[in-house]
Amino acid sequence: MRQLKLKLLAVAAAAVWTGSVSAQSVEVLHWWTSGGEAAALGVLKKTLEADGIKWNDMPVAGGGGEQAMTALRARVTAGNPPTAVQMLGFDIQDWAKQGALGDLNALAAKEGWDKTVPAALQRFSKYNGKWIAAPVNVHSTNWVWANKAVLDKAGVKDLPKTWDEFMAAADKIQKAGLVALAHGGQPWQEATMFDGVVLSTGGIDFYRKALVELDDKSLNSPTMEKVFARMSQLRKLVDKDFSGRDWNLATAMVISGKAGFQIMGDWAKGEFINAKKVPGKDFVCFRVPGSQGMVSFNSDQFAMFKVGADKADSQMKLAKAIMDPAFQSAFNVVKGSVPARTDVPNKAFDDCGKKGMADLAEANTKNTLIGSMAHGHSVPASIKNAFYDVITRHFNGDLNDKQAVAELAKAAKN
Ligand code: GAL
Repeated sequence: MRQLKLKLLAVAAAAVWTGSVSAQSVEVLHWWTSGGEAAALGVLKKTLEADGIKWNDMPVAGGGGEQAMTALRARVTAGNPPTAVQMLGFDIQDWAKQGALGDLNALAAKEGWDKTVPAALQRFSKYNGKWIAAPVNVHSTNWVWANKAVLDKAGVKDLPKTWDEFMAAADKIQKAGLVALAHGGQPWQEATMFDGVVLSTGGIDFYRKALVELDDKSLNSPTMEKVFARMSQLRKLVDKDFSGRDWNLATAMVISGKAGFQIMGDWAKGEFINAKKVPGKDFVCFRVPGSQGMVSFNSDQFAMFKVGADKADSQMKLAKAIMDPAFQSAFNVVKGSVPARTDVPNKAFDDCGKKGMADLAEANTKNTLIGSMAHGHSVPASIKNAFYDVITRHFNGDLNDKQAVAELAKAAKN
């Protein structure tokens, strides 16, 4: 009996010393604060808590994540990085370059991530051949979201397939006394619309040359001038109170029938789902007219920061949970995105989700899948932010089309 007591004492002492009696926990920095985003995040929190891992939430509001990245820099400068951070594309590569991210290779090898995650995502999830982030989804930005009743009321019989048909439909909606285009006047939102307008106007090769390769002849071109002319057309479709509006409040205008269209990434779909709206009945989703067959994507990945041994185990459990196929289905159905893994069945997804998955698979095989400039998947942040500045100044009338073309080409040399 005495031996047993001594043993128990030793175990208790050891546990207190290594802190393992305290529940395992992860601290996660993200910018998912809208209704639909929070609902999707809740799926991840519940999954982890079922696994005995406490979730310390660190939400930093601000669509597109600029504010979140600022908060992250402060935390890392203070020598106290979160366990994991929602991050996009080139930002992950920048943090990896600084040696701030942990090594997920052992888990990736055990779980076969190399075989199921598309190469377009792996390009950002790995650095020097090492997995440093776990991709939870694939969003795409060249979508239009439309309120079906508004289209019916305005007499828009068929979904617009071309840019001119889109303008004609918008004109009908305005004539019916409704807002044609719901929009939030913030640089990242203007840039999100820009993604689709570039694809629609110049096609995938033009997008790749101009916004990925930063080819000067493509940037400084009549095609890019036409892109800005079309952005000016969109400016005429928004309501007078658009400036500064958060993206999800613009989505709410389409959900409530105040507006006909929103050009936004498919996180907007999460707001429709959260509002219990049904695709095909309450709303319709279609590609920015002229960009059909192309997908400008951005993947939300959880970059895993280097943490102490006491956190490493719960960090691995978080990475494993994120990549679990069942979780990837449950999360993406709510988020409006599609799974980051190619081995997740589409049966739980609605018609817009199924279309998103089919479009991604088609674009992947046809080489018409390209990184969203607006959401950090075509150029590094310094150039992306310089592009944001030109696009938003033009949208607000501070630059005419020709000046915007010249400024964009200059920004690319930033
Ligand atoms: C994107 C992100 C989405 C959503 C959106 C709006 O960059 O990938 O998950 O958060 O911003 O904030």
